[in-house]
Amino acid sequence: MKKNAIYLFANWKMYLDYDESNILANALASEAKNFDKRIKMAIFPSALSFYPVAQVFRDVGIGIGAQNVYWVDKGGYTGEVSANMYKEAGCEYALVGHSERRHLFGESLEETEKKFEAVLAAGLTPVLCVGETSAEKKNGITERVVKNQLESALKKISWPKGKEIIIAYEPVWAIGTGDACDPEEAQKIQEIIKETVKKTVPKAGYVAALYGGSVDGKNIGAFLAKSAIDGVLVGGASAKLKSWLEIIKESVKK
Ligand code: PGA
Repeated sequence: MKKNAIYLFANWKMYLDYDESNILANALASEAKNFDKRIKMAIFPSALSFYPVAQVFRDVGIGIGAQNVYWVDKGGYTGEVSANMYKEAGCEYALVGHSERRHLFGESLEETEKKFEAVLAAGLTPVLCVGETSAEKKNGITERVVKNQLESALKKISWPKGKEIIIAYEPVWAIGTGDACDPEEAQKIQEIIKETVKKTVPKAGYVAALYGGSVDGKNIGAFLAKSAIDGVLVGGASAKLKSWLEIIKESVKK
């Protein structure tokens, strides 16, 4: 079945410097008029490149998001950028709980929850990332880990009635490894995610479930063919024009 909307979210991580970010943003902006209308694209550049890239995307229908935010609005927090500051600079989305934040930077469930709340309060749309490590997968506790990550971020939230929720399922072992999750397995987890979110936040509108972890032009079709997968969150392959354009092209074949 054809999807009404296809989420193509690009996490540029720390792959591109200032000039590279601007060059790629301009190249994408000049292609944007050719993108299928069903595509909902958002780019998550580095904090340094955020503002100029946001300017480039302003009128071309490409969304813009922050990779990470701090939950306090303003103050003595060296090195941090708040959700409100991003909002003022034209931001629409923010990743929360990305596995690199959780595992490389030791971000706790409590911190993730605070960020999630701050993003929402600032009027941005959070993209909550969840996923198990390879040890957790081997121990057969994927479902428990994912549910716990979802519930701890969502349970205290007062969610605006009917507002869409975006969740990215990104198994830690699949990120940047070339070892993507089996699409059938991802579908199963996405069904659990949708069910858990609906139970935890009954007021929520549509629950959009993205898959992330070694997505490329060759495997995106298999993920988008799954009914519970609404789109993808892509790292490595989104930071190069050729591979991102291939993903865009392949995404609309389903
Ligand atoms: P990857 O990263 O596509 O490079 O595996 C995905 C992500 O971390 O969002």
